[in-house]
Amino acid sequence: MSDPGDDLLTELKLHGGIPAHIAVIMDGNGRWAQARALPRPAGHQAGMAAVREIVEGGLQAGVRYLTLFAFSQENWQRPPSEIEALMHLLEDYVERESEELRSNSVQVRILGDLDRLSPAARAAVDGLMAATAAGDHLTLSLCISYGARAELTRAARQLATEVAEGRRRPEEITEEAMAARLYTAGIPDPDLLIRTSGELRLSNFLLWQLAYAEFHVTPVLWPDFTRQHLFEAIRDFQRRERRFGRVAV
Ligand code: FPP
Repeated sequence: MSDPGDDLLTELKLHGGIPAHIAVIMDGNGRWAQARALPRPAGHQAGMAAVREIVEGGLQAGVRYLTLFAFSQENWQRPPSEIEALMHLLEDYVERESEELRSNSVQVRILGDLDRLSPAARAAVDGLMAATAAGDHLTLSLCISYGARAELTRAARQLATEVAEGRRRPEEITEEAMAARLYTAGIPDPDLLIRTSGELRLSNFLLWQLAYAEFHVTPVLWPDFTRQHLFEAIRDFQRRERRFGRVAV
């Protein structure tokens, strides 16, 4: 039986212009759970299935980089029980998905302040990065304990140290030098940002890297997000005219 997304996927590929890099703010897990009178972690659990769905959809469409906002620095202020559930979910994700990701040539990178993770979660993500290091179809970056302002501050501090130690001149502080000190070093900027659950905010996500990204906001709550929604977001992207600050020719 043909999947309802098949026709749209064919159309997207014929059109050309699949975004190389898609970034996603996965929002609405709590509301999804609340609507079902379930505890919030049940929403995160359901959100994990949507992560699998978007990775598979990304591979099908030929997306080269997928960057998912899984846990922000601000999320450390949530109740300890919810943080614990999210960390266990991360370990669970690694255990369940590691082999599938490796066999699909997905390379996983974890972006953020990993020193704050529990030893078990840290060991799990280190193992996942090592197991998938050779993947070259899709780079999946999971932002965990991530905040864009902290990322930029860290890069500025590194450059300041290099200048103070005489290894760099102030005029050598360039955009390229900054970009090379961000967690995303070596990854091109996102072409498309998807945010679920209808909120119109950046929430301290990739503030430098999203400078010229197209935004697609959908009311769908993250656990309900399917590859069909991903393909619709790509179709929306393909209809945009990207000018990068220049005029249309
Ligand atoms: C935002 O929803 C979502 C999160 C804070 C966690 C995202 C985690 C997952 C999708 C599952 C785990 C993923 C991996 C890769 C293991 P919210 O809780 O802020 O929702 P709300 O705004 O409705 O309260």
